[in-house]
Amino acid sequence: MAKKLTADEILSLRKKHFLPTAVHYHKKPLYITKAKGEYVWDDEGKQYLDAIGGIVCISAGHNHPKIKAAIKEMLDSDEIQHSSTLYLNDRPVKLAAKLSEHTAKNLTRWHFTNSGSEANEAAFMAARQATGETMIINLRHSYHGGTAAALANCGHHTWRFRSQPVTNVTSAMEPYCYRCPFGASPNSCELECAKNVETTIQTSTHGKIAAFVAEPVMGVGGFITPQKDYFQMVAGIVRNYGGKYISDEVQTGSGRCGGSLFLSTELGIPADMITTAKSMGNGAAIGAVVMTDEIAETLAGKSFFNTFGSDPYQTEQARITIEIIEEEKLIQNAKEVGAYLQDGLKALMKHQKLIGDVRGRGLLLGVELVKDKATKEHASLECAELMDRCRDKGLLVGKGGLKGNVLRVAPPLTMTKAQADFMLKVIDSCLTEMTK
Ligand SMILES: Cc1ncc(COP(=O)(O)O)c(C=O)c1O
Repeated sequence: MAKKLTADEILSLRKKHFLPTAVHYHKKPLYITKAKGEYVWDDEGKQYLDAIGGIVCISAGHNHPKIKAAIKEMLDSDEIQHSSTLYLNDRPVKLAAKLSEHTAKNLTRWHFTNSGSEANEAAFMAARQATGETMIINLRHSYHGGTAAALANCGHHTWRFRSQPVTNVTSAMEPYCYRCPFGASPNSCELECAKNVETTIQTSTHGKIAAFVAEPVMGVGGFITPQKDYFQMVAGIVRNYGGKYISDEVQTGSGRCGGSLFLSTELGIPADMITTAKSMGNGAAIGAVVMTDEIAETLAGKSFFNTFGSDPYQTEQARITIEIIEEEKLIQNAKEVGAYLQDGLKALMKHQKLIGDVRGRGLLLGVELVKDKATKEHASLECAELMDRCRDKGLLVGKGGLKGNVLRVAPPLTMTKAQADFMLKVIDSCLTEMTK
């Protein structure tokens, strides 16, 4: 085996050869060399509970034995490593059939990609082709990927480049209950955020749109969790103006939110297209978009191709991941352990003055940190410090939000209540140390 580089060697090579955008979590960057189940180990052998699951990419647990055995068998039998859709292969179609067991009856036509960004690109393209319209409505605080159309739909200035053209898109107000842009509270709310989608269409388009795109829980935005009724109302508006509803489930898919494989099913969102990636391959580089027959057929006659999309190894890893999620009842586990963890975090919120809000669904949970619960001033530096302190105590968590003040929790779906207790203990003690 090739000799492993040290952390310092990696950092200096990254500085020389990577783009300056390749930043790292933690003041002292972490060099993870091993992983198993819910745990990872660094180059010095220190163990961490991985409560961010890669970056929301591990569902079945790191290096699951069933996935390892299947991939080893494929390699040992010299199974073709790359075939593309230009040749026949049974792995991608088996994945499409397996996934279709979990989507609404009208969502049956799949296109596999290497990433969530490409899945969204395909969805935008298909919506525009199907409607003959160009305008996409997105949400402020959203994130849909780093490719051209996905980035044009990004609701964070921190992710957008000055030179990036932003054309044929417009943004509706965010359904962010903790910081409601309409000044409402859950008791006084009349879903102004949903109604704003209509106002946005009426005031910044010619009155017809190609699509509306939204994440059912807004990941990069800091796990902003809109109310369930929001989606029904918005779907009706989108339809009235001729648009297609794209549900971006890159983070919320794969059973992470409990209840069903896709959160759109659980919330009753009548999506015309769902995009997904991240946890769907348990670490494999795979994304997908599923659409209705009617939309798919409008693409007929064109060449639309992705060299690595539908690769046998990636699609097989994704199919086995779903099998594991089914066999080990991981959707149910995400629901139960997620509710337990969310209750525990809400209990911490009562005595920890830095915690302003706890939200999310299943094992996709956000803890918004504020300097003051009355003013809700963002506690961004504190969030970075909390992450570092958790790491020192053997717990990895992520962060997000426009101001980087939301602690993000998205562990493997195999997480146990005992591990949730460990998490709560670590977060509680770190916050206590920080505020004493
Ligand atoms: C909701 C959402 N959509 C799309 C993407 C883009 O996925 P990828 O990074 O695989 O291109 C992300 C990535 O974080 C995401 O969170």
